[in-house]
Amino acid sequence: MEVGGIQALRRWRAEQTGRVGLVPTMGALHSGHQALMTRARSESDLVVASIFVNPLQFGADEDFVQYPRPIEEDLKKCEEAGVDFVFAPALAEMYPSAPEVRVVAGRMGAVFEGAARPGHFDGVLTVVAKLFTLIDPDVTVFGLKDIQQYVLVKRMIADLNFDIELIGLPVVRDADGLAMSSRNTYLAADDRARALAIPRALNAAAEVAERGRGATGSGASVAGAAAGSGGAGVDLPAAVEAAALAELEPVAERGELEIVYCSLVEAATLRPCPPGFTGSALLLVSATVGGTHLIDNLPLEF
Ligand code: PAF
Repeated sequence: MEVGGIQALRRWRAEQTGRVGLVPTMGALHSGHQALMTRARSESDLVVASIFVNPLQFGADEDFVQYPRPIEEDLKKCEEAGVDFVFAPALAEMYPSAPEVRVVAGRMGAVFEGAARPGHFDGVLTVVAKLFTLIDPDVTVFGLKDIQQYVLVKRMIADLNFDIELIGLPVVRDADGLAMSSRNTYLAADDRARALAIPRALNAAAEVAERGRGATGSGASVAGAAAGSGGAGVDLPAAVEAAALAELEPVAERGELEIVYCSLVEAATLRPCPPGFTGSALLLVSATVGGTHLIDNLPLEF
């Protein structure tokens, strides 16, 4: 495995003829990242993992400085996962000066995580576009935990004509159900227990969606879909959202968690699902627990 910055990458890349897979990361790698690398391995001849904590995607009050950077452990994990080249550029190489020209994420970048973190997705898309240009991959693998990021990268690939196949890998969870995240290391034990309200909310929503589908066959608007309601004409998207909120709200009322958003949206547009919606949807959930910002989501078909 080689490790290097821009010059070493350019030299290495010029020598390669096989299909190249890219896994972009900010380091602090866990087994979720290794799953992305393993998938990239199975989709290509050579795997590049990038490790770069991108300042452009952090707000002024966010954790850019304290973001974990365990580079030696990260390199071991890359080696274990069969990575061929770790692109780990220095900050001054990637941004010799503050970039004037950036990718703008647009409406889908201004909602949910974008509303809570203004400019975040412009920063993400700018660095991802730079990584695509530098590494020139044939395929790239992203985790679906950061679902809004995935939707935006997909849109950028289409809108800016990158000739790159995008693969999304389902959320990888710890045994207790919490979605794996580099930021989970910030959670104290009692906060981690509180954070489990998030996977419980997704499970409750999944159950209501499943029951609703059973009730209608198609799953649009159902009678009695909401947990034990037995009522007529319940709107399934609203019932699904309500089921998730019913898990989160009591924990929030005890002051143990702050709900940032809990919304059912159309997967392609991130717009709220109207009553009777049919098609692919996403339940997006974000909460702050003990000062740590957590996100999770559930894909649903109606
Ligand atoms: O998902 C991440 O870790 C980052 O947003 C990414 C895609 C590596 C860009 O910095």
